[in-house]
Amino acid sequence: MKRPIGVFDSGLGGLTVVRHLRRLLPGEAIVYFGDTARVPYGTKSPEAVVRFSLESCRFLLDRGVGAVVVACNTSSAVALDALRKECPVPVFDVVGPGARRAAEATRSGRIGVIGTRATIMSGVYPREIARRNPAAAVTGVPCPLFVPLAEEGWLDRPATVEIAREYLLPLRTADIDVLILGCTHYPALAGVIRLVMGDGVTLVDSGESCAAFVRERLASLRGGEGGIEYFVSDMPDRFREVGRVFMGEEIGEVAVARAEGGGAPPGRRS
Ligand code: DGL
Repeated sequence: MKRPIGVFDSGLGGLTVVRHLRRLLPGEAIVYFGDTARVPYGTKSPEAVVRFSLESCRFLLDRGVGAVVVACNTSSAVALDALRKECPVPVFDVVGPGARRAAEATRSGRIGVIGTRATIMSGVYPREIARRNPAAAVTGVPCPLFVPLAEEGWLDRPATVEIAREYLLPLRTADIDVLILGCTHYPALAGVIRLVMGDGVTLVDSGESCAAFVRERLASLRGGEGGIEYFVSDMPDRFREVGRVFMGEEIGEVAVARAEGGGAPPGRRS
């Protein structure tokens, strides 16, 4: 694609999606916006999430992107219709591809989904799964503490295992065979989640599913220089430090920009 792909998230979690995009579409240029001044979205009202998401999307459009990837599960769950209505370029979300992969992967028809409170409350995953597999039974559980645990790098501490056991108990009781990681941060905790759920449960990474779907759609347009431009609305140093773990490689220069009011970068860089 001649124009860059825009990716936005409430913060640094969306880098887990960028990581897969880079692997699958190495030639594409990417502009990333992380709304680190207003993270988390998962505890906010749908109205606030829609507003923040539209502002993040406009910021990317102002930078000339040719497609927008909504890496944030909460934004995908709550704001997708509003984004598609307003955005003149294709908008890709993480929920649809994740739901599709889960609906295809299940044998028993019992699927679990974990995400932020806003994502689970939206009911979007059961709806999207039902479109593809109407007989599937979906159990959703919010796991809000997973976000700070992942950002702290507490990926396999005893406390993390304990919290995971408690959160995931209803899913064990429901005897699911597929579990959707419906939040940007949860792939970082896949080891603990697998430990608690057992090998019989297939984990579906919604970000990876999204990246595969984007490649499917954009494959014919492929071929460019690659490279990523990073923008955040606050705390660029922390973004670089923690983001490195999520991204699996060093983060380059990070510029500070505000999404609201046009998003003109004030010029501070890290
Ligand atoms: N990026 C969010 C998501 O995937 C998690 C962090 C937040 O609550 O903003 O739902």
